[in-house]
Amino acid sequence: MEEKEVKIRYTIYQTIEELSKEEQLLLEKAKIATKSAYAPYSGFNVGAAILLENGIIVTGNNQENAAYPSGLCAERVAMFAASSHYPDIPMKIIAITANSEKFEVNFPISPCGSCRQVMSEYETKQNQPMKVILMGSKGDIQVINTISGLLPFMFHADELKQKNI
Ligand code: THU
Repeated sequence: MEEKEVKIRYTIYQTIEELSKEEQLLLEKAKIATKSAYAPYSGFNVGAAILLENGIIVTGNNQENAAYPSGLCAERVAMFAASSHYPDIPMKIIAITANSEKFEVNFPISPCGSCRQVMSEYETKQNQPMKVILMGSKGDIQVINTISGLLPFMFHADELKQKNI
């Protein structure tokens, strides 16, 4: 028997000014993206902005549907858009933010498990880290330098390939 431990490293910033200008702009773009979220059921507007290696910023927001499971999170809307328009350009940073009509979002919004799985696969594919910047509509900012910290034990297609599945 062997017990193992997974450690996650992340940084907390108290103000947006502590981030680089590039990161501040990205968070600003994510905030703007929340304005076009389609979230009539939850009233929770999430925005994501991805900085690509070539300098282009791709944004997305959550898209809900009366058939609830048909909707999609902001992060995946943004990543799928980035990957479909720029399939070979690495995603350097993703900034995520949210606001709500119902309560104040004064804590960082952490991506759901499905979004982490998708982030992990793109990070593996591009063979370089994707940085994650999380912020609510106010309050602390969390920065995680690689998705692998957000999703240890990700599901790998490689494992299936080895088994010829
Ligand atoms: N949502 C996101 O867009 N990203 C997340 O990381 C968590 C949740 C959306 C899905 C749904 O439209 C709303 O927030 C409430 O769950």
